[in-house]
Amino acid sequence: MTAETLAEDGPVTRIEIALGARSYPILIGRALLADPGSFSHVSAGSDALIVSNTTVGPLYAERLERALAGHHRHVARLLLPDGEQYKTWATLNLIFDALLRRAADRKTTLYALGGGVIGDMTGFAAACYMRGVPFVQVPTTLLAQVDSSVGGKTAINHPLGKNMIGAFYQPQAVVCDLDVLKTLPARELSAGLAEVIKYGPIADMAFFDWLEQHMNALRAGDLPALAHAVKRSCEIKADVVAQDEREAGLRAILNFGHTFGHAIEAGLGFGAWLHGEAVAAGMVMAAHVSQELGLADRAFVQRLVALLERAGLPTHGPVIDPADNAGSYLEHMRVDKKAQAGEIRYVLIERGHGAVVRAVPDALVREVIDRCCAT
Ligand code: NAD
Ligand code: GLY
Repeated sequence: MTAETLAEDGPVTRIEIALGARSYPILIGRALLADPGSFSHVSAGSDALIVSNTTVGPLYAERLERALAGHHRHVARLLLPDGEQYKTWATLNLIFDALLRRAADRKTTLYALGGGVIGDMTGFAAACYMRGVPFVQVPTTLLAQVDSSVGGKTAINHPLGKNMIGAFYQPQAVVCDLDVLKTLPARELSAGLAEVIKYGPIADMAFFDWLEQHMNALRAGDLPALAHAVKRSCEIKADVVAQDEREAGLRAILNFGHTFGHAIEAGLGFGAWLHGEAVAAGMVMAAHVSQELGLADRAFVQRLVALLERAGLPTHGPVIDPADNAGSYLEHMRVDKKAQAGEIRYVLIERGHGAVVRAVPDALVREVIDRCCAT
């Protein structure tokens, strides 16, 4: 199948996030952004605010605004600065400023048009403003389409920890228009592939096989391949979130590679490495820990490293502190949200079982960090 065989008016995939009264659809297809029908699930009549950034807004906000014109009384736009380093209280306040200046009421609907940074911040603003207003995710990066827009985790960063201030708050709908991925820089596409690859070891090794077969097509931006990757990723995430919305247990498996990855992001300063890049290096470290504990085979670690390399992702972590690198990683990981009573818990891969969450002796983790960080 080639891009030409996925027509603009081709089939739209609909995946339901089953959360009782808070259930909502994920729509995946082409040309969805400009189609008013994509938003028919969203409560109509209220005012709307499109929250985007200075990169994505000029590309897509007008298209979305036109699609929403008949659905909402008035549609306004807010463009925030672009970058992970702006996922802060100060930027969040710009959203509240815009809402209050317009005297936005409780029915005002926020549309998050952008990648995971915009989605996480807009969702958190929607959770907080007047104790909760409706919001819709319109993800424009691969990473946001396969992961961050789905499942209701919203947050901003704190200088001492990634995504540490936030809320669980579900959107009314997620609209994934595959066409917007055409303007995504190659490095960002690769970062999204890290989260796609994650779903293989934790939930579906047949999907991992498929990724090995289709990695060249995915990196080339082949729309049918991307459509399948987004669909399968969202199906897996929807299934996990429906079973454990608030991460009492199972949902932690979605954080494979993230414990190390968050340490990389916080340790280097947010924005130095992309989230997906940090997760890629983090998955390799978690895979090595799994192997050291006898849970995973060397062959699995090698396959994972090979696929991440083909996806254009780093497979070694950076040195975040030349004086005590492993110690610094451990210090950052102690504020991970999975930590309990000061004990760091890691998502590991166990042969035949997918992901398991375990505490691991610091000495073993130190040894793996020393081995897996480029000097
Ligand atoms: P991002 O939001 O910073 O977007 C990446 C870059 O691509 C930005 O410069 C953005 O402006 C640009 N961009 C976005 N769409 C574009 C398009 N269509 N064309 C051209 N440029 C485009 O980064 P991201 O990788 O999307 O998201 C990372 C964030 O997501 C992190 O903050 C991470 O913590 C968060 N995250 C959250 C969850 C969750 O469950 N809530 C899951 C995974 C990641
Ligand atoms: N990205 C991890 C989660 O949504 O739980």
